[in-house]
Amino acid sequence: MESCVLPGLSRLLSLNSSSPDATAALAARLGRLLAAGDTLLLHGSVGAGKSHFCRALIQSRLAALGRMEDVPSPSFTLVQTYDLGDLELWHADLYRLGDTQEVVELGLEDAFATAICLVEWAERLGTLAPKDALRLTLAPGRHADERYLTLDGPPQWCARLAPVLSEH
Ligand SMILES: Nc1ncnc2c1ncn2[C@@H]1O[C@H](COP(=O)(O)OP(=O)(O)OP(=O)(O)O)[C@@H](O)[C@H]1O
Ligand SMILES: [Mg+2]
Repeated sequence: MESCVLPGLSRLLSLNSSSPDATAALAARLGRLLAAGDTLLLHGSVGAGKSHFCRALIQSRLAALGRMEDVPSPSFTLVQTYDLGDLELWHADLYRLGDTQEVVELGLEDAFATAICLVEWAERLGTLAPKDALRLTLAPGRHADERYLTLDGPPQWCARLAPVLSEH
């Protein structure tokens, strides 16, 4: 896939996912590494798999705490929060965001500093996107169940992501 890495960001991972399960497995592996203050910005068109990725990541973190919960789409509420015990996880879908002031009103700016944040339609954040965030892009593959996934971020993520990167 043709793609350009934004200035200051490194291409951390680039892979073909051949099924929803393969994407979910990657989401669970990445999810284990995320801590308070980490933000994952998700990019990709309608049906690319952003919500699928987020749901798998959230459910794997909840399962690690012995919990099974629905992960509803935040497309109307814009954000959905999860209590992970010692920290919160925020799942946002900004497709219906009015303007960037709403990001502040939702409390997302504060959450970027204190919680794990997963943001679908992250381009709507504009300049409010955290500079140190990871960016995941999902693009259509050659068949219905294939997706091209790329992960970009500041170079300091390389060491933290080593357990995920070493499997590819
Ligand atoms: N390899 C794959 N990885 C992820 N999802 C896949 C894959 N193959 C098929 N799918 C399917 O694609 C669909 C993706 O839907 P999803 O709601 O996650 O998209 P989205 O990017 O969140 O779209 P929207 O912008 O409308 O919210 C799901 O039904 C999922 O099962
Ligand atoms: Mg979605």
